[in-house]
Order: sequence, then structure tokens, then C-alpha cells
Amino acid sequence: MEPAVASALHVLGISLGLATLIWRDRAMKAVQQGQGTLDGVFAADNVSGLAALLIIGTGLWRLLGALEKPTDWYLQEYAFHLKMSLFGVGFGLEVYPMVTFIRWRGQVKRGLAPDVARLGRIRALNGLEGVCYVGIMFCGAIMARGLWHASASSPACAIEDAFVARCSNCHGAVAPQGGLVLQRGAHAALVGVPSAQWPDQPRVVPGAPERSLLWRKLAGEQAPHGGAMPLGLPADEALAAQVRAWIEAGAPACRR
Ligand code: HEC
Repeated sequence: MEPAVASALHVLGISLGLATLIWRDRAMKAVQQGQGTLDGVFAADNVSGLAALLIIGTGLWRLLGALEKPTDWYLQEYAFHLKMSLFGVGFGLEVYPMVTFIRWRGQVKRGLAPDVARLGRIRALNGLEGVCYVGIMFCGAIMARGLWHASASSPACAIEDAFVARCSNCHGAVAPQGGLVLQRGAHAALVGVPSAQWPDQPRVVPGAPERSLLWRKLAGEQAPHGGAMPLGLPADEALAAQVRAWIEAGAPACRR
């Protein structure tokens, strides 16, 4: 439950952040055209700040709380680094608007008229921040699929990373389905270990895919032992072939 809530709130924060930038831009445009007040800009700015807090809070919760994927997994994902870089650039672009708006709020309180000629520059920065948000959304979608991951170091590591990306929503450390944790330490959980549900069925027998419940479930040949994996999703033939080759090669552990 927690991973889903954290993920939903994180995505909500990002969408809200983008929406508030558009709102803030419109409010600034209205002031430039003499049809709006700075109060409208400040209101949009407040909500945009709340969205940023929501993004950072849920992001840290997901990263450090290792809700779905271990922290290390993120650090080996190039899309994660790109996402963090875009976040850094977006944050840098926001410094000038943030400082200016803080100053303006003070001036308005003291009955002074801020220099709204700066709105043109702030709107340009605001637009660039929007571009960063869109880039961040794409990086998030790439990460969710485990693409661009530095796992090509060995087939064993590629398989473990594929498990983390595609199976750990059901086989996470918290309440793992079928008693199988694939979120981390998959090798120790699989090789030479009997099924938690059918103790006479080994999960992985090195050298023998047909006797390995893991491969049979990926290949749809698990009957009569439960469902095919990933459960409820289309068969992943490429992963099944990769796992077969890995088992035939003696199911070595991933060493980074
Ligand atoms: C939507 C949830 C879901 C996803 C996604 C999922 N599984 Fe499962 N898995 C289950 C459930 C439920 C069981 C227990 C019932 C069964 O064995 O059919 C299970 C059982 C298993 C078992 C048997 C464990 C044992 O000890 O008996 C293996 C092996 C397995 N899954 C592998 C995988 C792999 C590999 C993936 C990713 C490619 C995956 N699963 C993705 C839900 C899921």
C-alpha cells in the first residue's frame, strides 16, 4: 500500500507543479497587461511551493525508504540521474523568481510598488522550469520500466534488475506474494531454495530450467503450480529466454 500511495502522491506533486507554473504564468501575464494583481501571482506561487514540497518529500520517502526498489537501484539508473539533474536545473531557475517574489511580498506589505518590469524575465524562467517538469515526467516513465539501467555488466545482474523493475511491486520486501522476495538478494532467494507454496518444487535448479519453478512460471509451463508470472500481465518472452540461459549457465550470482 505504502509504495502505491507514495508513488501516486509523487506523480500528483509533479502534475500539480506543472499546472501551477502555467497558472503562475497566466497571473504574471495578467499583471503585465494591467488586468491582474500581484496577489494573483503570489497565490499561484504559494501553491507551486507546496507542490515542490510534496515532490521533494515523497521523492525522498521513495528513495531512502526503499519502498519499491533499493536505494542502490536508483543510483544505477541513468534516467534517475537525468531526472535529478533536471530537478537541479529547475531548482536553479527558480532561485531568481523565488527571491524576487519574497522581496515583492515585503514591498507590497509596506505599501511600496514592486518593479513589475522584471516579470518578462521571470516568465521566461518559469517557462524553462516547465520544460524541466516535462523532462522529469519522461524520466519517471523510463525509470518505472527499468530502462537505461547500468545492469548490462552481466546477464545475472540484468536479470536481478529486471526482477526489481518488473516484479517487486508484488514481490517486495513487505508482504511478498508467494513468500518470494525479488526486491533484493534475488539470487539467495531463488537458487537451491524450495518454493514456499510447494516445498517439493525448487525455485531454481542450476542447469535445469524445466525443473525450476521460476523459469516454468515465466514460460507459462507452471501447471499445476499456480499462475504464470508476471501474474496478470502478458508473458515476458525475452525475460523467460534470458532466465533460461542464465539457469543453463549454472545460475551464477550477480557481482557488480
Ligand atoms: C501482480 C502481482 C505479481 C507480479 C507482478 C509478479 N508476481 Fe510472482 N507471484 C504472485 C503471486 C500472487 C504468487 C503466488 C501464487 C502463485 O504462485 O501463482 C506469485 C508467485 C511467484 C513464484 C512462486 C514462488 C514460490 O515460492 O512458490 C515465482 C517464482 C514468481 N512469482 C516469480 C515472479 C517473477 C519472476 C515476476 C516478474 C517477472 C513476478 N513473479 C511478478 C504475484 C505476482
